[in-house]
Amino acid sequence: MNGTEKQIEMRKNTDDVRALLLGKNKKASVITFGCQQNEADSEKIRAMAIMMGYELTEDAEGADLVVINTCAIREHAELKALSVVGKFKAAKQARPDMILAVVGCMAAEAHRAEKIKKSYYYVDFTLEPSAIHRFPELIYKTLTTKKRSFLYGSEDFSVVEGIEPQRVSKHKAWVSVMYGCNNFCSYCIVPYVRGRERSRDSREVIEECKRLISSGYREITLLGQNVNSYKSDMDFATLLETVANIPGDFTLRFMTSHPKDASDRLIEVVGKYPDKIAPAFHLPLQSGSDGVLRRMNRTYSMERYLSIVEKLRAVSPDISITSDIIVGFPGESEEDFSATLEALQKIEFDMVYSFIYSPREGTKAAAMEDQIPEDVKVERMIRLLDMQGNISKKKNMPYLDKSVRVLVDSCTDKDGERIYNARCPKNKLVHFKYTGEAEDVIGKFIYVKITRIGAFDLFGEVIGENKND
Ligand code: 5AD
Ligand code: SF4
Repeated sequence: MNGTEKQIEMRKNTDDVRALLLGKNKKASVITFGCQQNEADSEKIRAMAIMMGYELTEDAEGADLVVINTCAIREHAELKALSVVGKFKAAKQARPDMILAVVGCMAAEAHRAEKIKKSYYYVDFTLEPSAIHRFPELIYKTLTTKKRSFLYGSEDFSVVEGIEPQRVSKHKAWVSVMYGCNNFCSYCIVPYVRGRERSRDSREVIEECKRLISSGYREITLLGQNVNSYKSDMDFATLLETVANIPGDFTLRFMTSHPKDASDRLIEVVGKYPDKIAPAFHLPLQSGSDGVLRRMNRTYSMERYLSIVEKLRAVSPDISITSDIIVGFPGESEEDFSATLEALQKIEFDMVYSFIYSPREGTKAAAMEDQIPEDVKVERMIRLLDMQGNISKKKNMPYLDKSVRVLVDSCTDKDGERIYNARCPKNKLVHFKYTGEAEDVIGKFIYVKITRIGAFDLFGEVIGENKND
């Protein structure tokens, strides 16, 4: 079946479930672990649930359909998701008609799906991310036959359009431009669980962005495991430029870029639209040692990486560059790790997301000899966090006493005080107090004067409201 045929099939199954559930007042809840791609998938699952006649609820314990969207990137993420699955055993026993589904990256791993089949007998079905459009089919099958299903390894890699995500936020939107990954970095499970790269048609992406902007969205993030290998009738740089040219007051972001193909054109486009494309570039380095990078199958050297950083700073001197680093990759010597610390000092990232290497079954690195002992990994991680904390704080210093335009996300009530959370164009977290109504600022661009800085966030006072209304 091609994408269009799959879309028709999905619609048919959706209608069939809708007919079965007519007047039954069923409720669905989706619990999400992991990255933005998973958040975006959950928004599609919610949309399909609504199309099938479910009403969404935050109360998962009382829901008729519970979907757990899992992550497999590190072992810790899997164990967390499995423990949440386990929490639904009692609810399922009390209400056998409830449907419990496990989807996402962990559901695509054969050994996890088989384990769920055997030991988590109360799970009705598992479904891998590349076959997400088959969600209504599995719901229909469960409702009509009560048979359990375990869908993994289907190699079902086409792009299925026609599911308008049910977005959680009314002002920030994820827009997937491509799915899957072909890079096979030796530590990474993603290519195995999300399948081969496939790109959405550029017209679909552009139309979706236009709809979002005209309905008031203030921030769009174009998403893909490696956006730079986007391939349609245009490349990613042109797609980014086309979306940046849509009229409206919004911020455009994208992630993630693989350094091996962060093109000069992309860098040029980022520099050309400073008011539209956020001056923030996430460029995972993973390690500062060429030897480790080679064994990670990253296919770039430190020299190449540094040249991209230089080009980015040439087109946008104040750009925020953030990165991912893995600590304790197999065979990482003290010298290799020092090279990573040196790289951090040399580049001065605004922020680093650092991870302790976690062996993933089926990947090349998991089978490598010379796995690093846990205590060494932890000790290196502490050194890295310590150094990067100081660098991040130093990078934040120029904000002090300056005014920044931020997009307000949410508020948190703590110790009798209401603190608002926002993001500046460089995607730094900004907190402030505000005495007016929450709806007057949430989802709006406002101006905040920064009065205090930390390594991970900035604190300030409101100096101007609702600049976009
Ligand atoms: N162990 C630790 N971190 C990992 N990442 C990917 N796979 C692993 C693993 N097996 C990190 C990488 C990637 C980020 C999303 O997660 O740094 O860029
Ligand atoms: Fe994993 Fe590498 Fe693909 Fe990123 S580029 S998803 S790290 S395999």
